[in-house]
Amino acid sequence: MANFAKEVSKDATSVSRNAAEKIAAVLIAAAQKNGRATIALAGGSTPKACYALMAADPLVKSLPWSKIQIYFGDERHVPKDHPDSNYRMANEALLNVAPIPRENVFPIATDGKDAVADAERFEKLLKEKFPGNAFPSFDLMLLGIGPDGHTASLFPGTPAPQELSRWATWCDPNAFNPSIQPPVKRVTVTPPVIWNAAQVFVLATGAEKTPMLAKIFAENEPQDAPVSRLLRKCKGKVTFFLDEAAAKF
Ligand code: 6PG
Repeated sequence: MANFAKEVSKDATSVSRNAAEKIAAVLIAAAQKNGRATIALAGGSTPKACYALMAADPLVKSLPWSKIQIYFGDERHVPKDHPDSNYRMANEALLNVAPIPRENVFPIATDGKDAVADAERFEKLLKEKFPGNAFPSFDLMLLGIGPDGHTASLFPGTPAPQELSRWATWCDPNAFNPSIQPPVKRVTVTPPVIWNAAQVFVLATGAEKTPMLAKIFAENEPQDAPVSRLLRKCKGKVTFFLDEAAAKF
């Protein structure tokens, strides 16, 4: 059964501030306990303001950047400098701003032959960095929720949400839903990697997220359960950082 928590703030700005503070607290604790802290960043637009706060005073000075390893939960299969790249978004807001050693940042490679090959490269990277595990356990996995109910790049209609043995996979969401933006292939962690994270933070703001959040939180399995209802199988605590608009369910 899900170990869900909700932290509701007035608006998107206060959600970003609260989430940034709580992310910092998790990373500081993990670094103190284990000597390293591992985080998988979410993509999309919601987290950008949160990342910028992590790269600014006071948080930037409180974080032990030399002990923090930064990964990505998913990536659009575009060049790293492409406007749709999750890496570019995080680089502009955080990675290129905070004093983060470059050797601590592990982008999902997207310059391979195709998304299939780059998903294999991503899985190889994870297996190198999390050796000897059945699945990697990030200290913190950040996620968003898409309007179609996806999370990471586990899109409904694609095989990705059903990939339960590999650590990374790929998908072509537009082959199933032409309205998905941006219309590019994706590389993503698989559900077991999300389930195995020590903690998961979900950032969602705006009224358009409310219907999917309601279906994720519903006690009884809804008819049209969104892919992101898989969060109910997480072994760790899942904390939803919501604004009042998104939390009206
Ligand atoms: C991506 C993200 C995706 C995102 C949701 C929410 O690559 O787009 O990983 O899962 O978190 O689509 O996106 P917004 O924050 O832009 O609403």
